[in-house]
Amino acid sequence: MAQTIRKAVFPAAGLGTRFLPATKASPKEMLPLVDKPLIQVSVEEAVASGIDSVLIITGRDKSAIENHFDISFELEHLLKEKGKTELFELVRSISDIAKISYTRQKEALGLGHAIYQAKDFAGDQPFAVLLADDVVDAETPALKQMVNVFEKYNAPVVATMQVEGEAISRFGVIDAEEVEPNVFRVKDMVEKPAFADAPSDLAIIGRYIFTPDIFGAIERTKPGAGGEIQITDAMRLMLKDRPFYAVKLQGTRHDAGDKLGFLIATVEFALKRDDLGSGLRDYLRSLDL
Ligand code: G1P
Repeated sequence: MAQTIRKAVFPAAGLGTRFLPATKASPKEMLPLVDKPLIQVSVEEAVASGIDSVLIITGRDKSAIENHFDISFELEHLLKEKGKTELFELVRSISDIAKISYTRQKEALGLGHAIYQAKDFAGDQPFAVLLADDVVDAETPALKQMVNVFEKYNAPVVATMQVEGEAISRFGVIDAEEVEPNVFRVKDMVEKPAFADAPSDLAIIGRYIFTPDIFGAIERTKPGAGGEIQITDAMRLMLKDRPFYAVKLQGTRHDAGDKLGFLIATVEFALKRDDLGSGLRDYLRSLDL
């Protein structure tokens, strides 16, 4: 029987250069989808998928993330005193969301290197990795869709989605064989291939479930695309030794680390809100486009 996935790792040490100047002094993971930071959106997805223990891999200038999940004594005190019970509970619930710890990636040497910082945290247990700027809007949380497959096959799982045309070059891409609807056995994978070299239109989306042998594979991984230690290359090494699966996610994926993707995600999320949806819909209808 597969072990239960209780731990999740959130790499959040990136420089966020695609979102400058907003990310000059504040982390991109704190950009809000309407009113909720990206990192909270993805931690909530993890918790809804069975996670109770979280490690956030941070870097310099990331203290806003730690403060966000901490108790804000002054704010809570003030809200209580003013009788703003709902807001008090909202703020308090963020610090109760999961057991959260932090570690720092001292140098930005790539996603594989960032994930390697979770070696002690994972110990001998399988764990999930979520990239907060990949927002997946789905009825069944994206990670939960993957946990179901991990539990069935007892092997590592990556998330995938179809990407049309040249845009595939911005992703890791898998070569895979469908074993049941939306579940694939991965045969090979490559990080950011040229369009002509992409083995398929199945892009890797920022959700992974790993077993602890990923760390040995990362140790054996040489710098790849962009001179960085790529997690895709480490997974590729693992493929030689064990089965590896991919789940085609059911839902909509937004690249919230990109300015246009972020705007689209914001509009989509706002339209679904009871308090904002109709006002925003009226405004969008009134635009002379
Ligand atoms: C990372 C991964 C890539 C994956 C992508 C998903 O790339 O290296 O394999 O397809 O996330 O968002 P990045 O976007 O950090 O360059």
